[in-house]
Amino acid sequence: MSLKFSNIIDIHTHILPGIDDGPKNLEESAALARCYTDLGITQIIATPHYIPGTAWAASCQRIVEKITELQGYLQSNNIPLTIFPGMEIAFHKKFQEHLKSDTLLPLGASSCYLLEPSFTDSAEALLHCLDQLLKQGQKIILAHPERIPALREMANVFDEYVQQGMRIQINIGSLLGKFGSESKNVALYLIEKNCVHYLASDAHGVNSRKPPTEEEWLELETNIGSDIVEQLCCINPAQLLIDKK
Ligand SMILES: [Fe+2]
Repeated sequence: MSLKFSNIIDIHTHILPGIDDGPKNLEESAALARCYTDLGITQIIATPHYIPGTAWAASCQRIVEKITELQGYLQSNNIPLTIFPGMEIAFHKKFQEHLKSDTLLPLGASSCYLLEPSFTDSAEALLHCLDQLLKQGQKIILAHPERIPALREMANVFDEYVQQGMRIQINIGSLLGKFGSESKNVALYLIEKNCVHYLASDAHGVNSRKPPTEEEWLELETNIGSDIVEQLCCINPAQLLIDKK
């Protein structure tokens, strides 16, 4: 692999213990952390689900406390992984209100919010909301649209939203064919159209939906090219950690 693993930053992970459908406890979180550090990856962003009205709606403070707790545990077990705060915010009717009330965490040191589109809402409702948010100057990263059937149908208009400032995160698993050929084809189409800004694992654990293995990183480089992988997995993610752009 021509890419340095130490430069990779995974910006979409479910690694915090007991907060969503990721690891249940510190031991499971540590096992997931080892998947990264065994390869030499040392930085990730924790993005637990935030779904208002459900058990998966931790406050910003609780997420930061969970990160502190996990960092301490990793340190005492000699696992050199640094975890930055974030959330995967489910698209919901009160999204704009929540943005104003400081109940949502952006990714890392940025002012960019990771927005998870619904598998059941209409694409029109989401695109209308995105249009309003972008006009207000909100910085939105749309998580894995290639996985949502209704959004796959609208992939040909995403460039209009990208021109307005929207960013797109694609799951690496989609590019490896793990979510079916339609997700893979739309992911490749969006990359070809220069509409993708980040690739991430959306890892949930070591048994299912684990971070890419060394062989899978190689396959990814072969499939889309090492320059694109470097841009979308290293260079663009690094910007989220160092500034407010
Ligand atoms: Fe996720």
